[in-house]
Amino acid sequence: MFKQLMTVTAGVVIAGGLAACGSSSSDSGGSSGSGGSGGSGDITMGFAQVGAESGWRTANTKSVQAAAKEAGVDLKFSDAQQKQENQIKAIRSYIQQKVDVIAFSPVVETGWDTVLQEAKRAKIPVILTDRAVDSDDTSLYKTFLGSDFVVEGQKAGQWVVDNADTNDVDKNGSINVVEITGTTGAAPAIDRKKGFEDKISADPSIKIIASQTGDFTRDGGKKVMEAFLKSQKDIDLVYAHNDDEGLGAIEAIEAAGMKPGVDIKIVTVDAVKDGMTALSEGKINYIVECNPLLGPQLMELAKKVTAGEDVPERVVTKETAFDQEQAKQVLADRQY
Ligand code: AHR
Repeated sequence: MFKQLMTVTAGVVIAGGLAACGSSSSDSGGSSGSGGSGGSGDITMGFAQVGAESGWRTANTKSVQAAAKEAGVDLKFSDAQQKQENQIKAIRSYIQQKVDVIAFSPVVETGWDTVLQEAKRAKIPVILTDRAVDSDDTSLYKTFLGSDFVVEGQKAGQWVVDNADTNDVDKNGSINVVEITGTTGAAPAIDRKKGFEDKISADPSIKIIASQTGDFTRDGGKKVMEAFLKSQKDIDLVYAHNDDEGLGAIEAIEAAGMKPGVDIKIVTVDAVKDGMTALSEGKINYIVECNPLLGPQLMELAKKVTAGEDVPERVVTKETAFDQEQAKQVLADRQY
């Protein structure tokens, strides 16, 4: 849907995030976002966050708050508790408050046109951050800053294909995958599934035998894995759409008396510290990185759009992936 017009390095983002280690005041509990300001500059940003569902999200929120403070942007922050109606309420409240720019990470892909048209009529520019919307009208937002989730899914799938020999844990000639998907309807859940399926289709011995949402949470991942362990036979590998779900799956596998990473292989996405710790301990086998430190770039884009300058329609974050040995090497320096 989008072209990769500008690439940024994780290093630059990480450096920016660390340099601004503070926080702005915020609303939580699905409020409509009348929180205090995090800076004292000329720009007021209304930021409608998805929630606090994962370690990734917590790191992302901290990055946005710290970067706003550093950039002197007055930040109004709201936490939608993973509910689209709360995000829509927050955006409407930002429109009423006549903020200079609205940024949000849409909990799901569809259903945004009406509220984004309201923002457009009020002449308030909108920046999508982290997740995209599925709309034919690209004039409803100025730019989209975030990862390429299809590529993330492809990296996970490619690793499963490349390591097919060892991933066939019970050596019966087929690799039975159970998939714990992210929030239903969310861009990363749709795209990570697609990317993964694209790659594993190259090897007919790899099959997704069950797929269910864990809503990007640890508790969700644990519950789904408990159900899979009861309903599915010969599970070789878990593909979890984020680290938190994978960490929940580890708890379920251990409770069932098995060794995660050995008896059942685990592949996840994010590479937050808890995930990387489990990877370095051998409980996860591979993690595809998704960088949450988007705050500094978001503030740069906000300054440009509010100044009427052109910005690229798509800004893709540069990311990598880690196996167990690589995780051991970088764990000590992992910031989130
Ligand atoms: O949109 C990014 C995804 O949302 C992250 O992978 C996940 O951890 C988060 O909840």
